[in-house]
Amino acid sequence: APVRLTDYQPPAYLLDTVDLHFQLDPGRTRVRAEMALRPNPAAGEPGAPLVLHGQELELLRLELDGEPLTRAVYSVDAERLVIPEVPDGAFTVVVETATRPEANTALEGLYTSGGKLCTQCEPEGFRRITYFPDRPDVLARYTVTLEADRASYPVLLANGNRVAAGEGEEGRHWVRWEDPFPKPSYLFALVAGDLTCCTDRFTTASGREVDLHLYTEAHNADRGDHALASLKQAMRWDEEAYGREYDLDLYQVVAVDDFNMGAMENKGLNLFNSQFVLARPDTATDADYTNIQAVVGHEYFHNWTGNRITCRDWFQLSLKEGLTVFREQQFAAAMGSEAVARIDSVDRLRGAQFPEDAGPTAHPVRPSEYVEINNFYTPTVYEKGAEVVRMLHNALGPEGFRAGCDRYFERFDGQAVTVEDFLTALEEANDRDLRQFRRWYTQAGTPQLEVRSSFDAEAGTFDLCVRQHTPATPGQPAKEPVPIPLALGLVGADGHDLPMQLEGEEAAIHGSRVLLLRYEEERFRFTGLTEEPVPSLLRGFSAPAEVDYPYSDAELAHLAGHDSDLFNRWEAGQRLARTHLLAQADAVRSGGEARLPGPLHQAISRLLEAPADDAALMARALTLPDEGQLAEYMETIDPDALHAAREAARTGLARELREGWWSLREQFRDAGPYRFEPEAVGRRALANTALGYLMAEPDEAAREACMEQFREADNMTDQLAALRALAASDIPERQEALEAFYERWQDDPLVVDKWLAIQAASPLPGGVERVQALMDHPAFSLTNPNKVRAVIGAFAMRNPVQFHRPDGAGYRLLADLVLELDGRNPQIAARLVKPLTRWRRFVPEREAAMHAELERLRERAGSPDVGEMVDRALGDEE
Ligand code: ARG
Ligand code: ZN
Repeated sequence: APVRLTDYQPPAYLLDTVDLHFQLDPGRTRVRAEMALRPNPAAGEPGAPLVLHGQELELLRLELDGEPLTRAVYSVDAERLVIPEVPDGAFTVVVETATRPEANTALEGLYTSGGKLCTQCEPEGFRRITYFPDRPDVLARYTVTLEADRASYPVLLANGNRVAAGEGEEGRHWVRWEDPFPKPSYLFALVAGDLTCCTDRFTTASGREVDLHLYTEAHNADRGDHALASLKQAMRWDEEAYGREYDLDLYQVVAVDDFNMGAMENKGLNLFNSQFVLARPDTATDADYTNIQAVVGHEYFHNWTGNRITCRDWFQLSLKEGLTVFREQQFAAAMGSEAVARIDSVDRLRGAQFPEDAGPTAHPVRPSEYVEINNFYTPTVYEKGAEVVRMLHNALGPEGFRAGCDRYFERFDGQAVTVEDFLTALEEANDRDLRQFRRWYTQAGTPQLEVRSSFDAEAGTFDLCVRQHTPATPGQPAKEPVPIPLALGLVGADGHDLPMQLEGEEAAIHGSRVLLLRYEEERFRFTGLTEEPVPSLLRGFSAPAEVDYPYSDAELAHLAGHDSDLFNRWEAGQRLARTHLLAQADAVRSGGEARLPGPLHQAISRLLEAPADDAALMARALTLPDEGQLAEYMETIDPDALHAAREAARTGLARELREGWWSLREQFRDAGPYRFEPEAVGRRALANTALGYLMAEPDEAAREACMEQFREADNMTDQLAALRALAASDIPERQEALEAFYERWQDDPLVVDKWLAIQAASPLPGGVERVQALMDHPAFSLTNPNKVRAVIGAFAMRNPVQFHRPDGAGYRLLADLVLELDGRNPQIAARLVKPLTRWRRFVPEREAAMHAELERLRERAGSPDVGEMVDRALGDEE
């Protein structure tokens, strides 16, 4: 049965302190939990039974106020332990349980990774450690004693401060940790293992000395510098941008190889998927370095937005995630180029969130019901949630937003609150009414903005008519208008912004301005114009909406060349490419042949001729929208037609602009030793974009250059770019390079992941067989989520032409894997269902084949995780 937001009840009992004692052992760990409870005065339900959550636990002993309880006075099932009668006032419960970390393949609760013992508790993993009020609105102070074999587990970590340690019997030792900040159980963590510590130090604005400890396995000790540097940047940035300081004397980060997600913000003890923390120039790409900086920042920022102030219930997930992703994006913009950061986050949003919002798993930023909360760690909750916060930031202005956040921190510190509380804080600090704005949290679907214009040369007026419409989503047939901040400029023939004066206004505004749309249809008249402008709409992507405006090729080219808003400059080029690639795909569908569209050719060749002052931006402008994104704009998705259209354009550009690509590559190849700096990152991106085009038509010279780069590169960015280009071409060097790469990196799991992903994502024929072979390769492992994502994720999300093979073999392979993972790691299994959910959008035979696999999953899958995804994917047709 689904959990509903409207069913929320405050906890009947509060937990003041909890004392945990772990006798750690990978086979069977014993846990003793002593909890000091009392009735919740705010619950108004005196005498309620005490309900503790618990899963997969062996119950060894239960005590109430020091007295052992027998089975006659409590009940326990697969989900909870209930003590019907407890004292009126404060009381103590002691629970002793055992769990089996080694047998825990779900990677939730206490599990093993490599030789380590570690935990993942968000959202509901703590209940696999002990019977507990495992809900985010129960906050307690934790004392944790970890006891383990000293030789295997010399390092014993938990949240907070290390307060005591000692020797035990038979080679065992123990360490006690105390976390002074009350926290919900999902922020609990422990790690035990043989780890090397990289240390650093940070002095906070108020002079507190903080020790920074980054733990890795010994052989990775030289890969922690970038994460530590990023951490210090994040700590400083949060002080400067939000006035937030760190609050403990110790900040610990541990790299874990087997991890379901990216990272976890446990209080004072972050756990990271190795992929998002370990980096060395020869093993990690610029993209990895960028991701690490962002994820380290993200988890650090959670200390205030998530930990000090947490969520009342899991429907409020975006309260912490949307806000923290927004803060992460601001941080990324401050550390590099603002325009590039914006382009990359919008690209992610449109690549993953727009499709979600347009399909059967669409849900509001604050969902109103769920079966399995793990299925709601989605692009909508994270990325769209961040866009909603960004709109608030822009609507209130930086100072107003900061004042609102200050109020939020001050008023709710130490509490578990709601999205509503956050909005109220913003309203109160700014004396503003954000009532209509709340719809962004409750209404799913991407608003479509239809914009039409007319110019009256005689009157000097330019009229805009803007209509908004949000398509129906499951459970929400009718939509209300949402407030949309439409940032725009009017670009003149000389490429400059024209002054904007709305009818009735005293003076003109120069540069961009924001029109706040509130109604289904609105009209605006700009006056005093002596020429017809080109409107630059939704500058900086000022709202998560889709703009429909009948731009001509010439207008798009004009914006792509001159728009003062760098985001929209890129956007105009992408729009031009998209329009023409979709037209080519249509031509292919009606039996024609795809070719390089003239206007696209011209646009790219103009870009190549213009001086490139920002290499990173130019690299993005030269990159065609990917097939996944193009598919979203196709009436009925035909993956083959899209692939043919995009390939024709790519190879056409490769051929027609050959000289340009060569000289671009020569000009931008980065000579010196690797440095992670925006300038150098941009140069590598641009040179490798050029290499990609050269290899789209792999003549002798290109192949040689590519092999040389592959062999000589001193950094993974360049080496991998070369390997990717080789792996996508049917040339003899392909196999040679893949083998050499594996030979060199086979002992490095993170690099092997790249090797797997590149092959799984290669559009060459035989993709399904290739993926099958990769899954049989010794480097693959079904129990490691990174390996599964590298192979299956890359195949199903980044290789549309092979995944959507006409005979349905790609779908079958995916569904088989979902079934295989269903019993071991339902969280990962459920995520893999995603690529099948948009079955209704595809050409009939693919639609039918995807549907058949979903039906098979519905019949055979056992976990609620997969079950919920499949039910949503299939929709109402029970
Ligand atoms: N709170 C983590 C983050 O975004 C994500 C943890 C999600 N874990 C999960 N099992 N769903 O930083
Ligand atoms: Zn987060």
